[in-house]
Amino acid sequence: MAAQIERKQIDSTPLRESGVPIIWVLGGPGSGKGTQCERIVAKYGFTHLSSGDLLRAEVQSGSPRGQQLNATMERGELVPLEVVLDLLKEAMLTKLSSSKGYLLDGYPREAAQGEQFESEVAPCSLVLFFNCSDATLTERLLKRGQSSGRVDDNEETIKKRLNTFHQHSKPVIEKYASKCKDINAERAPDDIFKDVETSIDALLAAKA
Ligand code: AP5
Ligand code: MG
Repeated sequence: MAAQIERKQIDSTPLRESGVPIIWVLGGPGSGKGTQCERIVAKYGFTHLSSGDLLRAEVQSGSPRGQQLNATMERGELVPLEVVLDLLKEAMLTKLSSSKGYLLDGYPREAAQGEQFESEVAPCSLVLFFNCSDATLTERLLKRGQSSGRVDDNEETIKKRLNTFHQHSKPVIEKYASKCKDINAERAPDDIFKDVETSIDALLAAKA
């Protein structure tokens, strides 16, 4: 499939030269990536880019590529890495002049995505990993599925999303362990956010 994907020529040099912090926000499906990113944006004014939201916007555009992406997401599988990286790069460049930092929510989801990002864009400054059991994740997503309208918030796809997470995304956390903060995400959002603040404050202090 990757062979059919036409890459866009996007020059990421301005991103690399800006030195703006880049935070990868990882965790299983329903671990609270989006929830915590909203809070980070409110406190630190960072730019939040969710790879899932960018893909869903591409699906909404009604393009042939969007239809393919929707089918992949409905199966709970990963879309081709070039598609996500190009969408992210474009979105990051669009926001560069006003960005104090980037939160990449749900990226990278496989080791190759991390490697490609750091070689084509810039090194990541910090990884936040929201660690949560499959039982809790399933419960949250089934609850959200009652009203979310997302094609992947159903029992069958949730199982597949969890499998994809364990098989492909867990290795990312191991690979980048030296930059990674492992945060217990079984707790209430406010308690989780306290740990998030500690990690981000330390990053900003080190950069100052
Ligand atoms: P994506 O949209 O990223 O979905 P996901 O990873 O499955 O995670 P969610 O967005 O469902 O959950 P979340 O962690 O943001 O949690 P939330 O805050 O919403 O990706 C969708 C698909 O796109 C993928 O399966 C894949 O196909 C494709 N894709 C995306 N990125 C890709 C990539 N990089 N490469 C390839 N393919 C990619 O919270 C969930 C629920 O729990 C909410 O109802 C919330 O209110 C509740 N909640 C949150 N925190 C708490 C808490 N502490 N306690 C109790 N409830 C909580
Ligand atoms: Mg999300």
